Amino acid sequence: MAKPARSTKSAKSLTVAVIGASGAVGEVFLRVAAERAFPVGELRLLATARSAGRRMAFRGREYVVGETTEQALDGVDLVFCSATSAASRQWGPKVVERGAVMIDDGSAYRMEPAVPVVVPEVNGDDVEWHQGIISIPNCTTTPIVMALHALRQLQPLKRVTAATYQAVSGTGAAAVEELRAQLRAYGRGEPMPPPQVYPHQIALNVIPHVDAFGEDGFTGEERKMRDETRKILHLPALPFAATCVRVPTIIGHGSAVHVEFDGPLSVEQAREALRGQPGVELQDDQARALYPTPLSSEGDDRVFVGRLRADPTVPYGLVLWTVSDNLRKGAATNAVQIAEELIRRGKL
Ligand SMILES: NC(=O)c1ccc[n+]([C@@H]2O[C@H](COP(=O)([O-])OP(=O)(O)OC[C@H]3O[C@@H](n4cnc5c(N)ncnc54)[C@H](OP(=O)(O)O)[C@@H]3O)[C@@H](O)[C@H]2O)c1
Repeated sequence: MAKPARSTKSAKSLTVAVIGASGAVGEVFLRVAAERAFPVGELRLLATARSAGRRMAFRGREYVVGETTEQALDGVDLVFCSATSAASRQWGPKVVERGAVMIDDGSAYRMEPAVPVVVPEVNGDDVEWHQGIISIPNCTTTPIVMALHALRQLQPLKRVTAATYQAVSGTGAAAVEELRAQLRAYGRGEPMPPPQVYPHQIALNVIPHVDAFGEDGFTGEERKMRDETRKILHLPALPFAATCVRVPTIIGHGSAVHVEFDGPLSVEQAREALRGQPGVELQDDQARALYPTPLSSEGDDRVFVGRLRADPTVPYGLVLWTVSDNLRKGAATNAVQIAEELIRRGKL
């Protein structure tokens, strides 16, 4: 349980609980909330007994992580849940019972009809119909829907395919440690520690297997990208196929995206549309080798797009490359922005 709150709760400040505070996203969430001056009055940092007692800082003050319990949720206004699907399922109804709002980073509720999946720059209006739980999309979906949303202002989308290059922090803190341990062993010429998080060694390798395989041969991550993109863009039949690949980077998910449209659009029109899309930064200058990379995007809240070119294999097609910081816009920043959207609309 966090230390008792200061009695400085102002009219606008909120009682906020973070479930999964000790995780990869939880830590970044605290940083982003502080940077954006999110109106936190009382803060409760929650996880499991494994992390209970750990000390974490928020705005220069130390908090102690507590175990997630019903009591710890009493009196909250807002819960950010970034833990596991089981935790979301366990605590979501308890949050809703208390009349609070839960913004959930996980996939547990994303496909439920009563739960909006929101990227504020794309479908912020969908917060209006929430019934207590709002999901954020998968960290690979977010940058792609932001680019697609800009482009569909020019021409309706006909078909999308994507191949991802996903950093290990997308799997959580244990995966980052696994990559680091393998790189250390390689650097010292020691035997490689056996993989525990991934099915194969991730250092010096790429693994085309993110989440479990389904009967159709696609992985859970690939299905999530398709289904969440359709839901966020309100295009339930959009043809969409992805190949999701884990690569040995630590932060920043890249995607090569091929988009087919119903009618013509030029590369220059697409560039203009992307320049005008809030939250998107175009980095596209071949002469200067300017395009986004995971390292150049790390620590930034924007979605970066580059390598725009016409796809000559279809009548109206574009190929592009997106990168975003999966822990920020892919998770924590998007979650804070949703809460800000609720406040702006007087719904929190
Ligand atoms: N990483 C990303 O890029 C990313 C992006 C978008 C969404 N997400 C989603 O965000 C969630 C968290 O991801 P992560 O990368 O931060 O994972 P992580 O580093 O493994 O951290 C998981 C956190 O959840 C806590 N936790 C686990 N089971 C719990 C339970 N039953 N009750 C309460 N807390 C529990 C853990 O607490 P202990 O420390 O006590 O074990 C830890 O704080 C996942 O649903 C993931 O799909 C992640």
